[in-house]
Amino acid sequence: MQTLRPFFEWCDGTTTGQVIRDSRFLFPIIETLHLLALTVLLGSVLVLNLRLLGAALRTQPMPLVARSLDPLTFWSLLAMLITGSLLFCSEALKCFDSPPFLIKMVTLFLAIVFHWTVFRPTVNSPAEAARPRRIATAMVSMILWFGVAVAGRAIGLY
Ligand code: HEM
Repeated sequence: MQTLRPFFEWCDGTTTGQVIRDSRFLFPIIETLHLLALTVLLGSVLVLNLRLLGAALRTQPMPLVARSLDPLTFWSLLAMLITGSLLFCSEALKCFDSPPFLIKMVTLFLAIVFHWTVFRPTVNSPAEAARPRRIATAMVSMILWFGVAVAGRAIGLY
């Protein structure tokens, strides 16, 4: 982790980081946008996982629900990455010493990889996957995405 310190110092020293740090309003405004995007991201992921578990929208074909929610998941994730990077630049050295931040970044990486390699192929396949696979896929997806959120909240508490 020490080898990454120069990168964290560079981010902390950027003009963007300094402007946000010196402003009374920018950090709370950006964090509010971070939380708004979070509600859309976790909301779309939750609805699709409830469909996968057969607990909601059972009359709707899975690929149709997935296609309808996909743009919401994609754009809200992009908004999380942009607003998160701005928040990060304003307190990069604090994040360097924050175990919750490290846990968050690792969980976020796993959530994104799992989403695109396992989750999306499962929900987009015309033939509904076997029940054990659907349950396992939904549980892993929800644990990863909500895990990112819990670690995100823990950054401010640590
Ligand atoms: C899906 C992706 C993400 C989720 C679910 C997420 C979730 C959260 C949550 C729940 C908070 C706490 C907000 C609060 O305390 O009011 C937070 C804060 C934060 N997030 Fe994220 N986040 C994501 C992506 C990112 C990324 C990519 C970065 C950085 C590169 C990031 C950096 C931060 C920082 C620095 C904070 C502020 C922590 C503090 O209170 O000091 N987030 N995030």
